[in-house]
Amino acid sequence: MYGLVNKAIEEMICKYHDEDTWEKIKQKAELEDIDFFVGMDAYSDDVTYRLVGAACEVLGMPAHEILKAFGEYWVTYTAEEGYGELLASAGNSLPQFIENLDNLHARVGLSFSQLRPPSFDCEHTSEKSLDLHYQSTRQGLAPMVMGLLHGLGKRFHTEVDVTQTSFRERGDAHDIFSIKYNHSHADDK
Ligand code: HEM
Repeated sequence: MYGLVNKAIEEMICKYHDEDTWEKIKQKAELEDIDFFVGMDAYSDDVTYRLVGAACEVLGMPAHEILKAFGEYWVTYTAEEGYGELLASAGNSLPQFIENLDNLHARVGLSFSQLRPPSFDCEHTSEKSLDLHYQSTRQGLAPMVMGLLHGLGKRFHTEVDVTQTSFRERGDAHDIFSIKYNHSHADDK
């Protein structure tokens, strides 16, 4: 994945823990030769998976928790790393934004030419619920999607309740999330 992802993992670890912890994780992942990640460089997916695996060992946390925390972090990280306008153009409500996820990544792909983006399909099941179909060329990232959806809920001051109803790792065709959402007008000014 692009270095932007690995950089975000580094920043998250340094923010929630410290630089020493990050160095330990990098060492455990056998990536100590990399001084820094370049956001616009494409790295092997293996680098990202190794970082997550090493973080599990060093922090004593399961992968799904790290991926979930990372997904949530990604929403604020990208907003602060130069992609604020892109995020803003994807919508100003949770359902509208989710509808636009593929467009968003298509726009990301204009500058990241080797991007292998995920694909998301929405089925609106009521005014306040939808089923989200997530497809990817990669394995094991459904917990990251969980975190991303919670991060987006925060961004839009919207309460979200997410349940995964289909699991690729259990042999289903792809992952499906059932999402209930409720905008809290108390935050509107
Ligand atoms: C402006 C904000 C965003 C940018 C710049 C961005 C960019 C990227 C990049 C560079 C990757 C790595 C893929 C690769 O290197 O081939 C990626 C992956 C991914 N993105 Fe985004 N993204 C953004 C927002 C989001 C949001 C809000 C979601 C919410 C669902 C999302 C979901 C994902 C997922 C699940 C992956 C993992 C790749 C996979 O499933 O195969 N992204 N994105």
